[in-house]
Amino acid sequence: MRLYITGADGSLGTALTRELSADPRTAEWTVKRVSVTDFDIGDEAATTASIRAFRPDLVLHLAAISIVAPCETDPGLALRVNVSGVHQVAEACRAVGSRLVYISSDYVFDGVDAPAEGYRETHVPNPLSVYALTKLAGEQIAAHVPEHLVVRTSWLFGGSAENNDDVLATIRAAQRGERQELISDQYSRPTYTVDLARALIHLMTRDEFPTGIVHVANEGRATRHELGAYALMQYDPKLNADHPPTAISFDDCEFVGGRPRTSAFNTELLAELGHLMPRWQDAVDRHCADLYQRDSSERTTV
Ligand SMILES: NC(=O)c1ccc[n+]([C@@H]2O[C@H](COP(=O)([O-])OP(=O)(O)OC[C@H]3O[C@@H](n4cnc5c(N)ncnc54)[C@H](OP(=O)(O)O)[C@@H]3O)[C@@H](O)[C@H]2O)c1
Repeated sequence: MRLYITGADGSLGTALTRELSADPRTAEWTVKRVSVTDFDIGDEAATTASIRAFRPDLVLHLAAISIVAPCETDPGLALRVNVSGVHQVAEACRAVGSRLVYISSDYVFDGVDAPAEGYRETHVPNPLSVYALTKLAGEQIAAHVPEHLVVRTSWLFGGSAENNDDVLATIRAAQRGERQELISDQYSRPTYTVDLARALIHLMTRDEFPTGIVHVANEGRATRHELGAYALMQYDPKLNADHPPTAISFDDCEFVGGRPRTSAFNTELLAELGHLMPRWQDAVDRHCADLYQRDSSERTTV
């Protein structure tokens, strides 16, 4: 197996790289990781040449502008990276006969009359922001690759940047003694990059490649307030006691770009494909233990 990963230095790419090297099923794989420092995914010539030269069996396309606000303020950039970038990658996959796995988002849904059992793969998307629109366009472009898999996921945490990891952002803000307001009436399924990486490995190593769309998220839904308060308690209960996050309402927020009030997935299809995800609390426990250990060893080194 020759696996080519774009956006490999991002939150998910970093977790995936670790999981790939730890998993015996992928021990023999030849993996090429590319990131923004290698070339701009919006550069057609560079992207095409790199994929064609490697001749992958599977491309895992993670590179994206993955945050809502920058897409809203610079739609040209969002189009270039999140739409043209997917087009270049998909065309190169078609040219070399590679499979394509593309990562999309729960934000493709509008949250209006959200189904009680969670959004299934068959529900009709209705994006509310430039980011969500570009992710949906990316899904449609990816679908032109004969063997493609669109993995939608939600509210990722487990990165190393506060702007892309709510758990880390909440802990660091509390450590700085900042007052935090977190929304207590917007729902989705928070997902740990490590658990998503393991699910991706499961899907990529199945005997039968699952073409189409599949929803992948940690078990259980939550609000950002529940997630933040739980994470603080796990990391250091004293931090939570000293700097508890204040609950605010979705309706009182002035967002840059629209977002769904409820975008929790239904993940029965993933279970049918043979993979069960841990609960989000279990995932936060592991992430916080990891962070605590890293922070402690940094304190010891200093
Ligand atoms: N984060 C979430 O909550 C979430 C939820 C649902 C779906 N997703 C999707 O999951 C995927 C992975 O997300 P993530 O959280 O790992 O995002 P991430 O940490 O932002 O990683 C994306 C990577 O793409 C790189 N990139 C940005 N512009 C690029 C360009 N022009 N050319 C090449 N590379 C470029 C970024 O580099 P720089 O960091 O240097 O810009 C970054 O390393 C994305 O498709 C995202 O849309 C994310």
